[in-house]
Amino acid sequence: MLSNKLHAAINAQINAELWSAYLYLAMSMDAEAKGLKGVANWFYVQYLEEQDHARIFMNYLNSRDAKVTLLPIEEVPAEWDSVLAMFKQTLEHEKKVTALINNLAAIANVDRDFASTNRLVWFIDEQVEEEENAREMIAAVEAVEDNKYGMYMLDKELATRTYTTPSPLATSAE
Ligand SMILES: [Fe+2]
Repeated sequence: MLSNKLHAAINAQINAELWSAYLYLAMSMDAEAKGLKGVANWFYVQYLEEQDHARIFMNYLNSRDAKVTLLPIEEVPAEWDSVLAMFKQTLEHEKKVTALINNLAAIANVDRDFASTNRLVWFIDEQVEEEENAREMIAAVEAVEDNKYGMYMLDKELATRTYTTPSPLATSAE
């Protein structure tokens, strides 16, 4: 059985993942409004992935006979000064999510809850990837800064990002 502390913390994490989804959806819509369809696509895929993260935690709580309680999702910004600002906020946000995931892992560790530890390993690895992706995108945008043709080409490249179901969902019966 999950400890009350870990149950509450994972439940809060579901909300954090859904807030992340909403943040990236807002970035996607702002990029659309700015005429950057590739950037919009990149953030839309990010939005789908964050929904998956929430789903993985929801599935996990359900599988441990722990009820999921959906909490209100706080407002997100609607507009960014630049694409660079979007990716910089993405990196800062992902660092915060990494800290939240690490906190969950620390609670599971104290609880000696090895099943939770196992589930969290996937998220720990995922966060390394999320931060790396954000840093790469910052570098890519900085490389073409003030170069309209470069931004046009980068936007085309980002249009090719496709969504893949993460392994914890791909292997489940759903
Ligand atoms: Fe996430």
